[in-house]
Amino acid sequence: MLVNRKEMPGLTSVSIMNMILIGFSLTLTISCEASNILVSPLIGKGSHFYLSAAIGEQLLTRGHNLTYLVSNAFEDHVRQSRFGEMFHYEVFKHTIPVEDIHQLFYNLSRSISSRGPSNEYMVSRILFQTQQNDCNAIIEDEILMTRLRSANFSSLLFDSTWVCGAIIAEVLNLPYFAVVPYPSPCFHTASEGSGFNPAIVPSIMTGFSSVMSFKERLFNSLSFLIYHNLGIQVTLKPYRTLCVKHGLPDPYDLMKQTKLWLVNNDFVGEYPCALPPNVIPVGGLTAKDPEQLPSDIESFIQGSGGDGIIICSFGSILILDESNMALMKIFVDAFARLPQRIIWLLKTSPPFPIPSSIKIVPWLSQNDLLGHPQTKAIFFHGGHNSYYEAIYHGVPAVVMPILADQHDVSSRVVNFGLGLKLDKDIITSDLIYEALHEVTSNSAYFQTAKMMSANFRNRPMKPAERAAFWIDHAIKHGTDNLELTGDSLNIFQYYLLDVIVFIFIVIFLSFYFAIKCIKMTFSKLYCFVHIPTKKKTE
Ligand SMILES: *[C@@H]1O[C@H](CO)[C@@H](O)[C@H](O)[C@H]1NC(C)=O
Ligand SMILES: *[C@@H]1O[C@H](CO)[C@@H](O)[C@H](O)[C@H]1NC(C)=O
Ligand SMILES: *[C@@H]1O[C@H](CO)[C@@H](O)[C@H](O)[C@H]1NC(C)=O
Repeated sequence: MLVNRKEMPGLTSVSIMNMILIGFSLTLTISCEASNILVSPLIGKGSHFYLSAAIGEQLLTRGHNLTYLVSNAFEDHVRQSRFGEMFHYEVFKHTIPVEDIHQLFYNLSRSISSRGPSNEYMVSRILFQTQQNDCNAIIEDEILMTRLRSANFSSLLFDSTWVCGAIIAEVLNLPYFAVVPYPSPCFHTASEGSGFNPAIVPSIMTGFSSVMSFKERLFNSLSFLIYHNLGIQVTLKPYRTLCVKHGLPDPYDLMKQTKLWLVNNDFVGEYPCALPPNVIPVGGLTAKDPEQLPSDIESFIQGSGGDGIIICSFGSILILDESNMALMKIFVDAFARLPQRIIWLLKTSPPFPIPSSIKIVPWLSQNDLLGHPQTKAIFFHGGHNSYYEAIYHGVPAVVMPILADQHDVSSRVVNFGLGLKLDKDIITSDLIYEALHEVTSNSAYFQTAKMMSANFRNRPMKPAERAAFWIDHAIKHGTDNLELTGDSLNIFQYYLLDVIVFIFIVIFLSFYFAIKCIKMTFSKLYCFVHIPTKKKTE
């Protein structure tokens, strides 16, 4: 239960108030030792699930009981993962058959990774539509909602990509916390009062650094304004229809009522900007100390001699089919020329012969691979989690961004000196070879990576521990004291335009009267000087 200061009774007697407060906080600490928390991590797939699972794991150690709301298309995937036994699960049904959902994601991966002009717009449209349908189905599933209502949840944790999380929380009347999975924390929480200044903080998907030319600052400001006025409206529009239909507040207001924002960023790998106290940087949620690798992988790595290995990992984005076969050949040609061995995380092996220095592995913990002392570099698509894992383990990187925030990650990799970036539309095996050769042979990248790693590890708590601590803290003490109070001001008050106008008027009046006085003094002086001369002449 969250304590809302505004709703506390205004008692006059201090001692009665104290007694009530002490009693209240006692019951709070006792009941909060085991509160039920509902987690809505989108559908239960990929990086969005792993972020909230990392936080859930730490909340368990604090005695909470975690229930994850996942989709029927990825329920089995989640239950079979190492988190399967850890959490309770509630399952919602997609409005289309599970096979079609899997096919949809396959189609998406295929259209994203196909070369040439990107299909980002089309891809986002399909995703938004599916998400909105899913959200509607959840809200209208009476049996599911009744079960959720009776589970006595204290709060809800959701992925900020999934606006539906806030809507579900509103329907269940729960306070809610968001995980923001993207780069650029001040951009994503600007509506909470984060200090997003387009002069020094790059907007999303621009690829700019924090030092910008006039042209870049102009583009950056426009990009921020357009996204925050138009982009948000487009994103929220489908949810708005849904909210009107169910008599709920506007989704924009619902998002603003989020109590805590756990942003997946750390300023070791992020451009600095000012965050309000209820925005907590917890970057690197999935980065942790490595576990022992399977023995065949370990011996493959040891077989590399002193040259070590390079990891190639494009998540679920790069899939092997006819349209990508040429790209796979380009990769293999580049890898074959390098002295390092390559571990390539890829679901299916290509049908053409592969040199023995390349090992294709359908699945392996990338974090454990990055933590191996023989790992020299990672070649990846700019996934945000992989970026922080590379920093944590101090491994230089070559990025080939495919879509959306991956372009921002690649700008950070280049600007912080962690590695190099490649353009997927003009990729050749020479370019891949040269970039990987450069980051593995030029020791500047290695030294920067080690410095960033040492900096990143020098924190009192691990990111997931910090996230769990703050959720626990918010459940116990509320977040009123952490929220900025800009909301009650209008735009003139917020930007201090009234104060500036007042100061200008005061300055103007001061000048006005000063000049008046000077004029008067001069005219007096004039009389004073002229009177005796007059007298003389008389
Ligand atoms: C619901 O949870 C609160 C604490 O979160 C606890 O005090 C209360 O007893 C629970 N109620 C039921 C019916 O389990
Ligand atoms: C934890 O949550 C699950 C599902 O919501 C519920 O069935 C279970 O009883 C809860 N456990 C405790 C100890 O409250
Ligand atoms: C996936 O793509 C295939 C062929 O391009 C198409 O026939 C099918 O309808 C698509 N499926 C979904 C769910 O989008």
